[in-house]
Amino acid sequence: MHDLEGCLRRAIGTRADLLGRLHADGTDCYRLLHGIAEGQEGLTVDRYGPLLLLQTFRAPLPGSAVDALHAAAERELGCTLLPVHNHRGGPAAADHVPHTPTTAALAEHLAHERGVRFVQQARHRGQDPWLFLDLRAGRALVQSMAQGKRVLNLFAYTCGVGIVAAAAGAARVLNVDFAASALAVGGRNVAANGLDPARCAMLHSDCLPVLRQLAGQPVQRRGKHVPFVRVDREPFDLVVLDPPRHAKSPFGTIDVVGDYPSLFKPALMTLAEGGAVLATNHVPTVAADAWHDVLRRCAAKAGRPLRELVPIPVDADFPSFDGQPPLKMALARL
Ligand SMILES: C[S@@+](CC[C@H](N)C(=O)[O-])C[C@H]1O[C@@H](n2cnc3c(N)ncnc32)[C@H](O)[C@@H]1O
Repeated sequence: MHDLEGCLRRAIGTRADLLGRLHADGTDCYRLLHGIAEGQEGLTVDRYGPLLLLQTFRAPLPGSAVDALHAAAERELGCTLLPVHNHRGGPAAADHVPHTPTTAALAEHLAHERGVRFVQQARHRGQDPWLFLDLRAGRALVQSMAQGKRVLNLFAYTCGVGIVAAAAGAARVLNVDFAASALAVGGRNVAANGLDPARCAMLHSDCLPVLRQLAGQPVQRRGKHVPFVRVDREPFDLVVLDPPRHAKSPFGTIDVVGDYPSLFKPALMTLAEGGAVLATNHVPTVAADAWHDVLRRCAAKAGRPLRELVPIPVDADFPSFDGQPPLKMALARL
């Protein structure tokens, strides 16, 4: 890694317009440096409210580099930040001197997106931060359309999308995830925003049997005796479908490259007339156009043809070399 400070300064400079807009609408969490796309392979720098989170995925940063980046970020942004460096790559050299975060930095903090609060803790049991910043444009869209709507948030993680829907006045939000610890953070996000937990419900379950039941389809399972959470069929106006790339469960395989329709079709079947699915695909090798074709064909075959399919671009703090960011989002409207 070379010219770290210069890279960070330039990256913040190129974000001047975006940061101005984000600050103006009550957002204080964003990516400041996006790895190789901005000249620093294996390094990301994010702001989450008062936290400056530096993540390395190859070589760890020496403490002196963390200090230098911290000073540069504070200078460029004109605010005080608490730095934490998390390393998720290879082993450090024998003479590596790590950065030691303060107790205050490791405490729980609040980050804000369009005025909605999200609890953050730089280090916790999991690896990923509690809010995925690249999904901001998807959350903004949901926030703009959720008022009075029934929203199903599948693969909810810490319920980020469900929280903005509830904050925007959704009539009902159902967040589904099989990670109890992630839903527990979602519960703290509900409390941090003073939301009514009854209007932003959490269902601790595998999404596959829940989705199939909501769609009126039989649950598929590996063995008759595999238990599953029972739910009644219920229509939703907006379904958020943000699956992992690949995962196996007792209820089937999630394979967003080879078989997106096995998720997308039941998502469409849960929609009320005029409803919409916000779908995502995180696989870098999947081209947006090819994925859109899969969605359109699946909808037509399911007898729920799409009125429109609107690609939702990621915000400019996630630049890509070729204009083809790994995260693709699309709003599919009936
Ligand atoms: C990429 S994260 C989703 C991020 C989330 N949509 C957000 O807004 O932050 C993937 C989530 O899917 C959950 N997950 C993966 N497979 C699952 C399954 N079969 N059923 C339920 N949750 C699952 C994981 O626990 C994780 O929280």
